[in-house]
Order: sequence, then C-alpha cells, then structure tokens
Amino acid sequence: MEGTINRQWIVKKRPEGLLRPGDLALVETAIPEPDDGEFVVRITHLAFDPAQLYWLSFDSYRPAIPIGGVVESFAAGKVVSSRTDRFPVGTKVQGVFGWQDYALVTDDAEVSVLRTESEVKALNVCGLTGLTAYFGMTEIARPQKDDIVVVSAAAGATGSIAGQIARIRGARVIGIAGGPEKCRWVTESAGFDACIDYKSQNISEQLGKLAPDGVNIVFENVGGPVLDAALENLAIGARVALCGGISSYVPVDGAPVASINNYMMLGLRRSSMTGFLVFDYQDRFDEAIGQLGQWLDDGSIVSIEDVQEGLENAPETLNRIFRGLNFGKQLLAL
Ligand SMILES: NC(=O)c1ccc[n+]([C@@H]2O[C@H](COP(=O)([O-])OP(=O)(O)OC[C@H]3O[C@@H](n4cnc5c(N)ncnc54)[C@H](OP(=O)(O)O)[C@@H]3O)[C@@H](O)[C@H]2O)c1
Repeated sequence: MEGTINRQWIVKKRPEGLLRPGDLALVETAIPEPDDGEFVVRITHLAFDPAQLYWLSFDSYRPAIPIGGVVESFAAGKVVSSRTDRFPVGTKVQGVFGWQDYALVTDDAEVSVLRTESEVKALNVCGLTGLTAYFGMTEIARPQKDDIVVVSAAAGATGSIAGQIARIRGARVIGIAGGPEKCRWVTESAGFDACIDYKSQNISEQLGKLAPDGVNIVFENVGGPVLDAALENLAIGARVALCGGISSYVPVDGAPVASINNYMMLGLRRSSMTGFLVFDYQDRFDEAIGQLGQWLDDGSIVSIEDVQEGLENAPETLNRIFRGLNFGKQLLAL
C-alpha cells in the first residue's frame, strides 16, 4: 500500500500457544521520516520463523518483544528515503524490519544489501533459514562422503537446504516430511535419496529398511516422536545436530507439546547431540551467503517458497508453520 499511512502489528498481550485474535493489534501511524544516519525501507516481503513465537511469548536467547512494540521479523524491501550514504534510495535490503509497511532503520543496524534480485530467494536460501542450514550442516553435523544423513521437516525452509548441502558433501540423505506431495518434492526436486512420509508411514521401520546399519547424522528440526524414531536408528558414533524441535514449542490445535523418550540411545550408540543457534555465526554470514548464493545460481541447490499475501494476514501466516501448512519457506508479500 502506498500513501501516508504505515500499518504496524503491535503486541497487546503474550500469546499462549498459537497466535489468537487479541494477542496483537494492527494500528496505523504516519510513515516515518529519516534523520541523519537513518533510512526508511518500504517492506515488500516478511519472512516467518518458528522462533518468532518465542520472541513474542517470553525471554529466550533474546528478550521478548515488549508489549506495545512492533512484532519483529526478518523482512526485505527497498529504501524509499535516506539520509545516509550507506543505503541510498532504491537499494534492496534485508534485516529485522518487523511486521509493518515501512521501517525506520539506522545505518549501523544489521542490514544487508540483497545479493539476488529476488527478495524471496534472498529471505530463504540467503536468509536466516539458509544460514541455519549452512552452519548447522557444515559446523555441527559435518557429514562425510557416504554418511547417511536424516533430515526432518525436509520440505521446510531449513531442512530442504540442509539436506541439499549434505548431498553436496557426498552424503546419502533421507528426508522426513508430512504428506506425499512434500515427499515427492523432496526426492524429485531437492534430490534427496529418499523421503519418509511420517503421516502415513512408520518412521522407525522405514529408517531400519533404508539404513540397516544405522544413520550417521540426524539434522533435527521437529523433535518429539520424529526425533525418537531417528534416535532408535542411530549408528555407533552418530551425531545429532539439534537445530530445532517445532513439535515441542507450543500446543497446536489441542495437541500437547511433544517430548522425547529415547535419549538413552545416545548412550547405547556412543553418539552425541549438539544444539546450535545461527546467531552464533553472525560474523561469518557474508561468507555463507556468498556460498549459498553461488549454489543457488549454479543449480546445486533448489528452493521453494510459500508466499501468502497481505499484512493483515501476518498472524495467521505465522500459525501456518506450526500446522505444517507451509510448503518451503513461509513468506508474506505486502
Ligand atoms: N538453531 C537455529 O538457529 C534455528 C534457526 C532457524 C530455525 N530453526 C529451527 O528449524 C526448524 C525449521 O524451521 P523453518 O523456519 O525452516 O520451518 P519450516 O521447516 O519451513 O516449517 C516447519 C515445518 O515443520 C513441520 N512440523 C510442524 N509441526 C510438526 C509436528 N508436530 N510434527 C512433525 N513435523 C512438524 C511442518 O512440516 P510437515 O508438513 O512436513 O510436517 C512444517 O512445515 C524449527 O525447529 C526452527 O525452530 C533453528
């Protein structure tokens, strides 16, 4: 929307579980004017990450977004007014701009100029989830040639890229995803060797058939019973890279949060599980974006985005990730 109005989603109360009406409010303010050292971004795309529900709900690895504050989120857009030489008008940028039409940004904020013409590719492969896949796979999981790697939420933003990086490293990759359409994309488009549909197949049984000697690496995004099945199938000396556990974050539509039971398999199989946060690698983001961009350009990596529309739909768009309604990176075009 153009004009003089800036629409913003602000926090009214801490959500309990998925976002519900009344947790947030859509308000209107004036489009900000930049002061010296500032610029204004007209946001074109918002990116959605499960961790945003943490940011809204409580203090975690970062303080919760304050009540009355604009909902924070990664986003991409174009500079429309500027009083800094670093980000002239017309520059396409990404950063934590929030759920709003226009963001006022200082030129010392963590903002990067888009490396690709496409905002959706920038927010996906070259954005937070691509970076998570890159550092999780290359620094924590570290697959070797012919290792068997299992990736959960394999049709999602992080999992799909993580599995393709493992393939580039010469590993054999088994995805786990919900439904035949997602599983078909994972094998036929993303080039995984196999994909288990956890909604219609027994994960543990299928892993036993696909990897009779056990799996060497698990790149975990889901947790709960999905992780339990992978733990049952660990090879001796396996590594679990704990990227996330979306099934354990909040109760969804009456289903309780999931827990794991098979942690002792780590002991029996002399294996390790290591968690990580992408923000720990912030000083290496440029290097990773360069590599991810190159893989995207030369076709070594394919990506898929699920682009919803309209700022007014932002809360429901975040909820989609927890219901598995997204296919690929969840984005919203403004
Ligand atoms: N460590 C870090 O720094 C870091 C950074 C970013 C993201 N993460 C984590 O990475 C994971 C993936 O995030 P993303 O943004 O890439 O999301 P995503 O994978 O694009 O979307 C989440 C997917 O998880 C699956 N899912 C949701 N609830 C599930 C359940 N109860 N059981 C099984 N599968 C379920 C759904 O796929 P199906 O349809 O296949 O079920 C859904 O599409 C999350 O755990 C997130 O917290 C970690």
